[in-house]
Amino acid sequence: MSSSILIGMDTFARWLDPFARGNTMTRAHTIRSLEELIAELDKGPGQGGHGRIMRSVAIDVKDVLGFATWNPKHYTRNCIAQREGYELLLICYEEGQRTSIHDHDSLEAHVMLVSGTMLEERFTTAAGGGLHLVRATEPVVGTVSTFDKAHSIHRYSNVGPGRSMTLNLYAPPLLKWRVYDERSGRPIVKPIGT
Ligand SMILES: [Fe+2]
Repeated sequence: MSSSILIGMDTFARWLDPFARGNTMTRAHTIRSLEELIAELDKGPGQGGHGRIMRSVAIDVKDVLGFATWNPKHYTRNCIAQREGYELLLICYEEGQRTSIHDHDSLEAHVMLVSGTMLEERFTTAAGGGLHLVRATEPVVGTVSTFDKAHSIHRYSNVGPGRSMTLNLYAPPLLKWRVYDERSGRPIVKPIGT
């Protein structure tokens, strides 16, 4: 498995942009460990929101491996921290495993690719029924995808080769989700992970 260093996008942006480099009042510092990330999340979202915090994360794959579990039949959801206001999970996908097409029941979510190659598909409900694929991307390791409350129907698939992991922040904790039938587009509220 790759153990490449993740580079936070905020760090990269600050390096490129001299104004941003000096404008530290509105930027988070680079977060280099899970402990630091949890401490930052415990302070609350602040002005920049949870997305700003997640985009400031630059941790090594080795730091999350202690939370990783693997199942040959289904991807695994591994809790790193849970509070009243948020939960932080490590999601582990064997090659070929994927989520249902789902949304987060109107919660805010931020997903960082930690390792591997994931296909991220975003959908809308089509006027005549069914689902319409609006975007399919393979995120770069270290980047953060945000799902807002209005447009968040999506699916993640590990397209390989090998295992993949994502660091997921939900605010507040995700208790149920809406799973969509791919053909009819009809949603069903289900317990998480089903
Ligand atoms: Fe999701």
